[in-house]
Amino acid sequence: MTTLAILTAAGSGTRLGRDLPKALVELGGLPLVLHAARRLAASGVVDGLVVTAPAGLAAVVTEVVARDPHIEVPVRVVEGGATRQASVATGLRMARAADDVVLVHDAARPLVPPSLVRRVVEAVRSGHRAVVPGLPVTDTIKQVIPGPGAELVVGTPDRSLLRAVQTPQGFERGLLVRAHEAGAVRAAAEHLAATDDAGLVEALGEKVHIVPGDDLAFKITTERDLWLAELVLQEAA
Ligand code: C5P
Repeated sequence: MTTLAILTAAGSGTRLGRDLPKALVELGGLPLVLHAARRLAASGVVDGLVVTAPAGLAAVVTEVVARDPHIEVPVRVVEGGATRQASVATGLRMARAADDVVLVHDAARPLVPPSLVRRVVEAVRSGHRAVVPGLPVTDTIKQVIPGPGAELVVGTPDRSLLRAVQTPQGFERGLLVRAHEAGAVRAAAEHLAATDDAGLVEALGEKVHIVPGDDLAFKITTERDLWLAELVLQEAA
């Protein structure tokens, strides 16, 4: 019984404003995807990695991740798809029969603590078939619809019942495969891809459980996030 981690790194990351896919942008002198891969491997609960690379960059990502001496688990690199959902589906096809647990983690969360990876895998192995790390939200969230001139507020959900979810998300492999099969049919019909894998499991009517997330698993989207990550790394050094 083994755990496979799919590391999604095929996005363009245009909001960072670099002429380089986000996963290859450097943090402390190393590409984001390498930070994430090292932390997944360092958890001690991941037996193999599949990295989804941007189109045309599989060889570059292989050079960066698969040859890294700090990563002692087998690494395979595949080209991702046009959406995150399609990239995960491609990675999932690389799972082997023995991989009963699959994690999906975003390279855009390079500082994920190995302890969080262990927490998610332990929760799946304890019998929860779909597990996501989540943190309480600190902002009040409004639901809106487009309006003339300005958006219109249509609701204010109870903040105490909201969670901001992170990755890695962990799943029993069979459930995730089924969720992606159904999700692919929906994506083709509705031209709308899911932004996380748990959402696909929820759409099947299956339960998804939350475990406590970690501030350090924050996502890098803007230049400010990258600056914050540099500070965190310097603090830790
Ligand atoms: O764009 P966003 O930051 O939400 O992407 C989340 C993760 O999904 C990133 O790590 C990105 O590289 C990955 N991704 C992917 N394939 C895509 C789009 C995004 O692997 N087509």
